[in-house]
Amino acid sequence: MIDQFGRSIDYMRISVTDRCNLRCRYCMPNGAACEKSGEILRYDELLRICTAAVELGITKFKITGGEPLVRKGCPDFIAALKRLPGVEQVTLTTNGLLLAEHLDALCSAGLDAANVSLDTLNADRYRKLTSSVSFTPDDCLRLLESCCEKGLRTKVNTVLLEENRNEAVSLAQIAQKLPVDVRFIELMPIGYGGTLARVNPDEVLRTLLDRWPDLHAVSERRGNGPAHYYASESLLGRIGFIDAVSHRFCADCNRVRLTSTGQLKPCLCFDSSVELRGLLRAGCTDETLVETIRNAVFDKPRAHCFDARENMTEHRMMSEIGG
Ligand code: 5AD
Ligand code: SF4
Repeated sequence: MIDQFGRSIDYMRISVTDRCNLRCRYCMPNGAACEKSGEILRYDELLRICTAAVELGITKFKITGGEPLVRKGCPDFIAALKRLPGVEQVTLTTNGLLLAEHLDALCSAGLDAANVSLDTLNADRYRKLTSSVSFTPDDCLRLLESCCEKGLRTKVNTVLLEENRNEAVSLAQIAQKLPVDVRFIELMPIGYGGTLARVNPDEVLRTLLDRWPDLHAVSERRGNGPAHYYASESLLGRIGFIDAVSHRFCADCNRVRLTSTGQLKPCLCFDSSVELRGLLRAGCTDETLVETIRNAVFDKPRAHCFDARENMTEHRMMSEIGG
């Protein structure tokens, strides 16, 4: 559907849980206050919201968290979502820890693509950044290979930090070995992200250009996101940049978010949201649900204000909102 600023909104990010089995320093270093299970939307409630969203032209869904795969039944939910008439695409964002275990089920469910978060290839640094006790960057690389073998479209998401900026070339080399896109994400001042230094993505691009001088911008769109991509003859995958802060892309925003507790959130930067859980549990009609979503999407703010943080009203952590 079209919002008040003429943008076409066709993409919903759904957080199915705020829990996570990692503790990334910029996301939930001290662990999150977990919602009680009754507060999390049930899968049947999520499917009802998705059905209403499809009616409004929202046909692409990203399943995210926290870590979505820590919630029991996530692959079955994805299968059910894929079966909903009108759903065009269902993709998953994951830290990878439980992906090997669920890969077959996810592929059978018809998952269209997976984004795997990997911020470093150095085992020590990975442990420090994520507090992982067993999963390592090598495990993650093997996992990426398995995804490719299964024919699952796969991307790597790397959040740029002071700690990993000198690894940009090694991380980008994943796209040399495997047909996966490697995307560098600018740290956003959401939750703990606001307490850490941001790395300039243009500097990272210059480093990559030193290594692959033929790297050139390509205009093709790959997925639902705001990433801009670069290609090189030497790379099987593309290199992407998601520069939410330095190159604001709100004018092309196509998304809304649903938190795990059922709040529809039109913009990452503001805490305004519409409470769908209460509505569902009060027994609302499908028409009311569709109208409520329509109004919330229509009112989506024009742009974020990450560069004027005193105006930001969102103070929750990324894991609560859905990264
Ligand atoms: N800024 C940018 N990306 C973030 N993520 C989590 N917190 C932030 C932040 N403050 C990323 C994760 C993951 C995706 C779901 O969101 O690293 O790749
Ligand atoms: Fe978990 Fe992702 Fe947050 Fe890391 S960034 S703690 S993997 S939700």
